Amino acid sequence: MRFKNKKVLVTGGAGFVGSNLVTALVKDGANVTVLDDLFTGKKENIAVLKDIEFIEGTVTDYDLIERLIRRSDMVFNLAVRNIIVSTLSPQLDFQVNTGGMFNILQAARNHGIERIVYSSSASVYGNPRYLPINEDDRVSTLSPYAASKMSAENFCSAFYESYGVEVSMVRYSNVYGINQSPTNPYCGVVSKFFDRAMDGYAPYVHGDGEQTRDFTFVTDAVEATLLAALSPKAVGEVFNVASGIETSVNELATYIAELAGSSIGPVYVDKRDIDNIRRRVLNIEKIRRVLRWSPSINLRKGLKLTYEWLQSMNGHRKTETYTVEETALSHHGQ
Ligand SMILES: NC(=O)c1ccc[n+]([C@@H]2O[C@H](COP(=O)([O-])OP(=O)(O)OC[C@H]3O[C@@H](n4cnc5c(N)ncnc54)[C@H](O)[C@@H]3O)[C@@H](O)[C@H]2O)c1
Repeated sequence: MRFKNKKVLVTGGAGFVGSNLVTALVKDGANVTVLDDLFTGKKENIAVLKDIEFIEGTVTDYDLIERLIRRSDMVFNLAVRNIIVSTLSPQLDFQVNTGGMFNILQAARNHGIERIVYSSSASVYGNPRYLPINEDDRVSTLSPYAASKMSAENFCSAFYESYGVEVSMVRYSNVYGINQSPTNPYCGVVSKFFDRAMDGYAPYVHGDGEQTRDFTFVTDAVEATLLAALSPKAVGEVFNVASGIETSVNELATYIAELAGSSIGPVYVDKRDIDNIRRRVLNIEKIRRVLRWSPSINLRKGLKLTYEWLQSMNGHRKTETYTVEETALSHHGQ
């Protein structure tokens, strides 16, 4: 019970990673409040959890954030306008991703808080010069999304250095797994490929499929996030959260087709604006050393668990609705 009786606020807690984090926190003894505007999140993702408080609202509402921070010991900020929305509407993205983080920091500065953990993204690295990518390598923000995530990180560091607000940052790389709904038009490549394969269709691959990513199973990302909240050594630090293994989109398509029993190869289509990152694999030595974290679910195992979850969803997989207008296929990973 590492969080026993801790009052924990999770923004974006009805989303994919957030709902897995809330589940883990509840198991670990925390009293959880979720703040989510349900932009992509779903109440159903956390419906089975008793004794959590759900507040429908936005991180851009400073008064609300202040009220919630006043009665919290810790905050996990996962609320986000994702990369596709961000490219269509960078202003909204800035307001939520950077402005939301700023509001949390400002309220924490005024009222005090044990720890804030910010869920950032490997997107901040853009196209790296060297692989694997270290935390202190050059950042290169190639999208408004990456810029807003990096800017939020910068405010975290500034509030720590200037006012002593205790923050830790985790940079996730391509998280996949349970609760990443394929009907969410912004979901990652894993869900998209499974969705197509389970319906008997070929996956769409943007570009030649030789672009690479570093895939992280969601429970591993969650455990890294929890350790970042608990460890005194994590204060003011940023950690890569990844598998440390580079996998091409073509390889991923093959694994998923095998699991889903599909013999249909990919259909190659044009790249989109956001498909501007060729290779990604992260160095995870820092988090191994400092937080004693290492990934426990390899890609094959994680894909199997994801497939089993999708199968258990059966008809539900297709009955969810999203109010968002964008239906572009997404395999960038955030
Ligand atoms: N999934 C990935 O591969 C990945 C990779 C890198 C970083 N991340 C980061 O992890 C976090 C969670 O991402 P996810 O994949 O679970 O995405 P998600 O879209 O499933 O979750 C985001 C949640 O934030 C909520 N939200 C959006 N705007 C809000 C607002 N103004 N106020 C309150 N809530 C709001 C959404 O409704 C949703 O529940 C994000 O910060 C994201 O940048 C995710």
